Amino acid sequence: MGVNADVITDLILEVAKKAREETSFEPEPELTKAVKWPIKSTIGPGLEGAIACESKIGYVHGSKGWLIYRGYDIFDLCAYSSFEEVSYLLLHGKLPNAEQFKIFKKKMNNYRYLNKTLRLLVGFPVENMNAMGALRLGTNLMRQEFTHLDAEEGRPATVDAISSDEDSIAMETTPKGEVHAIYEFKKHKRKKLSKMDQMLEDACGNEACYHLISGVATLAAAITRIKSRHMPIEPDPELSHAANLLYMMNGRRPTPIEERIMDVALILHADHGMNASTFASMVVASTLSDIYFSIGSGIAALNGPLHGGANEQVIIALKEIGDPGNVAAWVDKQLAGKNKIAGFGHRVYKAYDPRARILGALAKLLVEGNKEAEIIYQTAKALEHEMIVRLGSKKNIFPNVDFYSGIAYTCLGIPTEIFIPIFAVSRVSGWTSRVLEYLQNNRIFRPRAMYTGEFNNKYLPIDGRN
Ligand code: ACO
Repeated sequence: MGVNADVITDLILEVAKKAREETSFEPEPELTKAVKWPIKSTIGPGLEGAIACESKIGYVHGSKGWLIYRGYDIFDLCAYSSFEEVSYLLLHGKLPNAEQFKIFKKKMNNYRYLNKTLRLLVGFPVENMNAMGALRLGTNLMRQEFTHLDAEEGRPATVDAISSDEDSIAMETTPKGEVHAIYEFKKHKRKKLSKMDQMLEDACGNEACYHLISGVATLAAAITRIKSRHMPIEPDPELSHAANLLYMMNGRRPTPIEERIMDVALILHADHGMNASTFASMVVASTLSDIYFSIGSGIAALNGPLHGGANEQVIIALKEIGDPGNVAAWVDKQLAGKNKIAGFGHRVYKAYDPRARILGALAKLLVEGNKEAEIIYQTAKALEHEMIVRLGSKKNIFPNVDFYSGIAYTCLGIPTEIFIPIFAVSRVSGWTSRVLEYLQNNRIFRPRAMYTGEFNNKYLPIDGRN
């Protein structure tokens, strides 16, 4: 693709302008002052409408189609920032200055090496596992490497990471005959902490968050490689997080435009209010279980087709439809069967999801010149049109973030079964940020269920039951 990566910035600013114009009639929200607990709210099933905590991290305005991270508009962050900078912003509340950013990126670079975790991971039948199952397992293995309570040798000092060097360290040959370096961390003595301090450091330490934000990308890439019967590739310290992710997956350094599109996709998925996976992470953290267990729960929740799994379903549906001309009949059939169509609708957005606007524009750029992908994209455009005509104004159903992401990921060489792990690679920065914020004022989550069962049943021995 012979286009300059700056074209992405122009595309984003263009869709941002359209988004702002379309919802300009909606009133802007007022700043919320500190909440005085307890508060009254109207709660629907699935905790709809319930306010569980305060947060300064991110905000979604459903009818304006706004997505805000720490006060910054998602369109501006996508146009001008990077995933590393956005992760720092989410975690620390402010954009980093040059020195802070340099240190943060150095830590990210070091934590990208997961030698021990990957050695353990390749001992499992990853090639036959559900990719999210393998990712969740991988975060448990990262925990083994890093937490006070589990690691016997002590956590690796990031500065001691030794990069692979073909002359000095062992090489491994894969069944396909590729040769890859095996890399090692030096052993490192950990400082002595009290049991409670250990638990707190494991539960809410910044370093563990950096480790996870960086390492989940290495894990996702390694899982992709193993599933295609290749050995994991170690990261390249010269590359950005997005470029490293693609490089460690595909074994090829991405073009500037591929890197930029991956980076924007990671920014777009980094945080999204109290969604199911974020809430799952926070619930686990609220027991003072540690952040690795919390992120494992986020991964488990994200795996479902109503949450992170929808973009995989979108690709399956678009391939099944096959051609823009078949869309109307396909939608008739789905709606008659009362099926929900993947990639549409959202609990919070009642306007066009800003993430889908950006991803739609990026997908269009990526499919150019690829006949098969162009047909899928055109089918998606026809489906979007059909759904908006039928359900747009009637039920406020518009494309969500999952509608165009799968098309973009396919063009970037990412296999369909890795779409949800890619979501996790990004959302881990939202999960960790929200967990840390919540733990500053922790109260264990404990909602109630409305008991609608019976009372006073008499216990009958098994022979007396029909
Ligand atoms: N296709 C057709 N109709 C839909 C869709 C859809 N995708 N989504 C909602 N509706 C309809 C429902 O049938 C319902 O109609 P009714 O009032 O006549 O019964 C109405 O819109 C409200 O739908 P709910 O299911 O109550 O909305 P809820 O907020 O509970 O669900 C959800 C939101 C889960 C995202 C839903 O829209 C859905 O299942 N979408 C498809 C899956 C999907 O794309 N998920 C990804 C979401 S984004 C993310 O998690 C990253």
